[in-house]
Amino acid sequence: MRTIQWNAENSTVRMIDQTLLPVEYREIECENLAQLCEAIKSLRVRGAPALAAAGAYGIALASKLSSANDMESLLQDLKNATGIILATRPTAINLGWGVHRVIKAVSEAYDTEGIRDIALNEAQAIADEDVQTNKTLGKHGASLLEDGDTVMTHCNAGRLACVDWGTALGVVRSAVEQGKDINVVACETRPLNQGGRLTTWELMQDNIPVKLISDSMSGYVMRHELVDKVIVGADRITEDAVFNKIGTYSHAIVAMEHEIPFYVAAPASTFDFKGWEDSVKIEERDPDELRYMQGVQIAPEDVPVINPAFDSTPMEYIEAIITEKGIFRPPFLIDEVRT
Ligand code: MRU
Repeated sequence: MRTIQWNAENSTVRMIDQTLLPVEYREIECENLAQLCEAIKSLRVRGAPALAAAGAYGIALASKLSSANDMESLLQDLKNATGIILATRPTAINLGWGVHRVIKAVSEAYDTEGIRDIALNEAQAIADEDVQTNKTLGKHGASLLEDGDTVMTHCNAGRLACVDWGTALGVVRSAVEQGKDINVVACETRPLNQGGRLTTWELMQDNIPVKLISDSMSGYVMRHELVDKVIVGADRITEDAVFNKIGTYSHAIVAMEHEIPFYVAAPASTFDFKGWEDSVKIEERDPDELRYMQGVQIAPEDVPVINPAFDSTPMEYIEAIITEKGIFRPPFLIDEVRT
């Protein structure tokens, strides 16, 4: 099962509910845009490339459900849907990339039926391409890994964060596929534990050796030479910085201090070709994510909280960015990726 896919039988978006893993594996169906947006906001589907597919399927879903029978009204409905989808999560640029790619494609349609068909076909193409892109990216990245390497990663940049295969974990999967013996150290990734819950789960499913650490242990494992390389994913890459799950920046600093290569693996759709570090909105999430864990109160009920979902790592900490177009090394020229 892909992380997210179109269910043609009843025109719904089917996905793995990632909030329940690893305790329970459940697939859910989003029947309308409100359900899909709730799934994005509450991280039932999450991870930048999976969000591109979610956004694209959201437009396909909106086009199917719209009762409009003239092109102008249908396109207006899709414009409204675009605004609703983009308001769910602001940082991962892939969400808007997926939505806008479908909107651009439907502008070629001649009638309402054409709009609906093109929207779904384009969304399917985005989902299919994601798998291929990650495999290509994975192969490029695997050339950076040596037999016997231990790779530290943060959050989940695996198949659950994409349609399939993964970016950072896609590199690991490709290296393993080439016969290399690779071990992974997964940072827990507080507050929502995507590393502890998802990265460990999907690697164990594939029999790839993984050890879990808390985020605060990353300095220890790097200082004690228990890690050879760090590979993370990204939610947005500007000319000057990489945005990824909160905590990434701290790992990058420690990695540089210990001369451990720090790699970012991300498809070209993650690049914000016009953006700079200062122009990017970082999602601030519900304070209760820190005050409670799985419904159990772990801090004073009314303690003020700072809860940014992402941080930015300046380009100088990054050894290379692995994409489907190849490996790019700073000083980083974003135009090289664009072309
Ligand atoms: O809040 P999330 O779980 O959507 O954050 C995900 C990450 O930060 C991932 O590292 C990133 O999206 C890259 S996924 C290939």
